[in-house]
Amino acid sequence: MITKAQSLDNFIDKSLYEKNKGYYQRKKEFGRRGDFITSPGISKLFSEMIAIWIVSFWENLNKPEKINLVELGAGNGELIEVLINTLNKLKIVKDKFKFFIFEKSDSLKKLQKKKFSKSVKWLDNFNKLPNLPTIFLANEFFDALPIKQFIKINEEWYENFVLLNKSGKFSLEKKKVTKKKMEKIFNQGIDENQNFIEFSPLMVKYLKSICKKIKSSAGGILLIDYGTSDKKMYDSLQGIKNHKKVNIFDDYQNIDITHHINFNFIEQIVNLNGLKVGGITNQGSFLKNMGIDLRAEIISKKMSFLKKTDLYTRIRRLTHKDEMGELFKVMFVTKKDNNFKTGFNDIKI
Ligand SMILES: C[S@@+](CC[C@H](N)C(=O)[O-])C[C@H]1O[C@@H](n2cnc3c(N)ncnc32)[C@H](O)[C@@H]1O
Repeated sequence: MITKAQSLDNFIDKSLYEKNKGYYQRKKEFGRRGDFITSPGISKLFSEMIAIWIVSFWENLNKPEKINLVELGAGNGELIEVLINTLNKLKIVKDKFKFFIFEKSDSLKKLQKKKFSKSVKWLDNFNKLPNLPTIFLANEFFDALPIKQFIKINEEWYENFVLLNKSGKFSLEKKKVTKKKMEKIFNQGIDENQNFIEFSPLMVKYLKSICKKIKSSAGGILLIDYGTSDKKMYDSLQGIKNHKKVNIFDDYQNIDITHHINFNFIEQIVNLNGLKVGGITNQGSFLKNMGIDLRAEIISKKMSFLKKTDLYTRIRRLTHKDEMGELFKVMFVTKKDNNFKTGFNDIKI
């Protein structure tokens, strides 16, 4: 009756990326009419603040004549579109950036290619990047990668698997796993205080190769995502449909499946791979440090009252602690000898 169980990360991968069937493989709308909206779709000012940060970091890297800019998982391309336009308008950096997108979804790639075929190259492997300093950007990228989950019960560890019964219903099943095997998958020792482990093996793989590139050619990664910087891990797996949380088994291949990023775990990985966290703060502080309020004041001077209200409502959504301002974190990873701090000059959270 019960078919063979598959690992949770395998299930998520099929759910989101099975060819022609997975959630992200079919053309999906982002924004109000889609299942979720991301910061670049809330206001262009978000992407403009990233552009300003990029220019400052480029200056810190001694103004290289050519530099790679790689967006990981570009979705409908709203962020990179603003970056291309802004960076190519600024005289000091005009034509210095080589733009790349690392994207898995065929349908999103098609949409991106329609928009940027002249200005962007698509990558499937970071080793193919030109030998130049490189800035990686990841906005809500790592939360979209498949995860594994392990649970400790009475000092024994179990891994979550997914079962499909003959009537087509999925359910979770726990399979015993030795600590040794788990530590091998996890790539490091398990802290005695953890009784739940959640992480993405694919994220670890990508981070390793990104760290390798940054170490050899200089640069960094700016990573923006929702999550926590607590050491303690928790179950954060969630399905999203029509802007609401749903069970991940509710509507196979028709819902987005995500999880919260554990920034403490990312810090451990980058340290293990010879880089350091140059800064971590929350999205509200980062955007304010980069001058989002001032920019809003300038562009809203000649706006009608309605437009001004709309703009400030959007900025509130991006920056306020009760909206995206605190749950979303911004992390900057770079080489150990780099002391760039722009955007992060307040708290370490
Ligand atoms: C939640 S969307 C975020 C899109 C965009 N960064 C934004 O802020 O609007 C996640 C993006 O990552 C892409 N993605 C997910 N897994 C990927 C993988 N393994 N390799 C490359 N892209 C991936 C998805 O197809 C999608 O474009």
